Amino acid sequence: MTHDRPAPSQGVAATPATDKFLTQSGVEVPLICGAMYPCSNPELVGAVAAAGAMAIVQPISLVYAHGREFRAGLQEIKALAGGRPFGFNAIIEKSVKAYEDRMRGWIDVALEEGVRFFVTALGNPSWVCKAVHQVGGVVYHDVTERKWALKAKDAGVDGLICVNSRAGGHAGTHTPDELITQLADLGLPLVAAGGVGDERAFAALLQSGYAAVQLGTRFIATNECKVHPDYWRAILDADEDDIVLTERLSGVPVAVINTPFVQRIGTRAGPFARWMLRGRRTKHWMRTFYALKSIRELKHTIQKGVSYRDVWQAGKSVGTIHAVEPAGEIVRRFAAALR
Ligand SMILES: Cc1cc2nc3c(=O)[nH]c(=O)nc-3n(C[C@H](O)[C@H](O)[C@H](O)COP(=O)(O)O)c2cc1C
Repeated sequence: MTHDRPAPSQGVAATPATDKFLTQSGVEVPLICGAMYPCSNPELVGAVAAAGAMAIVQPISLVYAHGREFRAGLQEIKALAGGRPFGFNAIIEKSVKAYEDRMRGWIDVALEEGVRFFVTALGNPSWVCKAVHQVGGVVYHDVTERKWALKAKDAGVDGLICVNSRAGGHAGTHTPDELITQLADLGLPLVAAGGVGDERAFAALLQSGYAAVQLGTRFIATNECKVHPDYWRAILDADEDDIVLTERLSGVPVAVINTPFVQRIGTRAGPFARWMLRGRRTKHWMRTFYALKSIRELKHTIQKGVSYRDVWQAGKSVGTIHAVEPAGEIVRRFAAALR
């Protein structure tokens, strides 16, 4: 990837925090299309990057849900992005060795292909920081509370993705205001993740001191995202109150739309799973089991339309999402709201 760093657009949220994020990431708009399994297809990542925002590749989604050989998939995204930067999501929890080796290999290939923005989740990101810093890249780490933020800072990360209680995917427990209050003194750029579906909420979070904002659900309802139209319809029809947290997908709470199927099966993990998840060692096995299970089941969100019996992941931003739009239009509208 040519890693020219375009100058930040004139007038775009000129706070020092935002400037730092724009300089570190090389994008023009302080907005991230977050990694999403299985929704991060190459066309979506490429379209967001081409429009001047940061877009994150989810490698498991790229390879297993969208059938791309990893390096060829990155090259395809590079072409779609027109040379603009994009990022890579490394879920680095210690689990089975084969998965860890695969993730290390993917990170090496991503670095070779010129990716310089990494978002790590779970685990200790110090080895990723070491590899990425050697070539001048940056690492942001997903956190939900101060305890994890301090560990990430010690590990050498360059910024924090502050996952709040409104987020799609694995939601946090704190509001955006609580997180910025808890983490402002750490001296790292903070990215708000969760609950943003329109440009008003985006601008308000930047004004409150966040360096950038990460969106997930908003980008599922785009022409480029290859989910079945039933998933789009579920997002457009849902309100904020229709989002519930379920442990049944991954053992930890995941935000989903409260369909009749979700209501029927309930949202708590079974007693055996809960017992396994409490043990220091067994929790890794259980999470690996859940990860493999959800890779297989959630893939149907794309292939068959009606997902594994109507489990649609989405966050509370659904209340402000009213149309399926081109991803680039969303980026341009959000950028315009800052001028
Ligand atoms: C369907 C879905 C899948 C997600 N998968 C991942 C993932 O694989 N890795 C990750 O770090 N975050 C994941 N997330 C979180 C998003 O990257 C982002 O932080 C979150 O969606 C922001 O909240 P929002 O949906 O309210 O905008 C996922 C979110 C959704 C909605």
